[in-house]
Amino acid sequence: MAKFRKIGILTSGGDAPGMNAAIRAVARKALDEGVEVVGILGGYSGLIKDNIVVFNRRTVSNIISRGGTVLYSDRCPEFKTEEGMQKAIETCKRHNIDAIVAMGGDGTFRGATDLTNHGIPTIGIPCTIDNDITATDYTIGFDSAMNTTMSMIDCLRDTCESHKRCNVVEVMGRDCGQIALYTALASGAVAAVIPEVPFDEGEFIERMQELLDAGKRSFLVIVSEGVRGANGQKYGEQLSQKIESTLGIESRFARFAHVVRGGSPSLRDRFTATQMGVRAVERLLQGKSNIVICDRAGKITDLDINYALVADRMYKNKLQPGDLDLFGADQIADMKALAARRRADIDTVYGMVAETSK
Ligand code: ADP
Ligand code: F6P
Repeated sequence: MAKFRKIGILTSGGDAPGMNAAIRAVARKALDEGVEVVGILGGYSGLIKDNIVVFNRRTVSNIISRGGTVLYSDRCPEFKTEEGMQKAIETCKRHNIDAIVAMGGDGTFRGATDLTNHGIPTIGIPCTIDNDITATDYTIGFDSAMNTTMSMIDCLRDTCESHKRCNVVEVMGRDCGQIALYTALASGAVAAVIPEVPFDEGEFIERMQELLDAGKRSFLVIVSEGVRGANGQKYGEQLSQKIESTLGIESRFARFAHVVRGGSPSLRDRFTATQMGVRAVERLLQGKSNIVICDRAGKITDLDINYALVADRMYKNKLQPGDLDLFGADQIADMKALAARRRADIDTVYGMVAETSK
């Protein structure tokens, strides 16, 4: 028997391929359980501005293969204010929305926990191409963004080989280098330059010189947008110029930017989105809220949102005073293990990029 009569779904922050598959899964599962569903258009601002559409099974037909989000997304500073929150709560009351599934990144989850604290039980589903949420091994959109990135790098490889050139590619990821790191490994780049690991430019130039001397014609270097160079500017373009001026090989620079945030979601993203969407509804119906659905070691599970947010801050060395007060020794140890494993995984792949590109 459903505890909730009506739930709302929203997507917030940067869009990610697979959001539509998650929307579809939440809607279909909830309707199947006899729960009414509404879509909230435009993230938290849709809640503030009362942009609500009633869903039925057919509303989510033919969206599983589409990129972007049919619910639209935005960034809404007003939602962080008490006034904005009150407007959002009024909208929920007006439409009898008993609970919300919010899809997005860590900002979206902070909003979700605020909503829960104001009486609207909310569950988060991690959707961001960056894969930068520590509590979950995987965020919906990451695989699709990497596949698009990899295909585009493959194209650059062809032309670099023809012209004996280097191409430096800047990819998104905010402060997280995983898109750059994984696509560098998968596309045979000579290096990944990421915020998580200090980059030894001198050693890299020497290594490139050796490869050039040994007859290598084409070079690909993948730089994450979060890496900063001189004057705090993005490093990718600077590195490209440095390669050309010091090594005498032509070097081009490409910024893939938002391109890789669009496009049809990969199988992995559709699959994970469906698993997470179904799980979110199951947990709501079991009376759970203020949780984020996670993929841990290949299993779909969930964690308390506050725990997830603090684990994230621990990994990012951004813990705030009092953050750990709410948690027991076991939970803190688990957070530390999560952070350590994430760092170790990144170091391992980073090492492999260098090892396999000599
Ligand atoms: P993401 O969810 O991808 O990290 P943002 O950081 O832009 O993206 O957050 C998405 C939205 O979540 C914001 O526009 C805002 O409406 C809401 N949000 C972000 N941070 C908070 C916060 N500290 N408290 C309440 N809501 C927040
Ligand atoms: O978080 C997803 C993301 O695409 C980041 O990789 C990037 O830094 C940021 O969003 C770009 O934001 P916007 O769409 O506002 O330009």
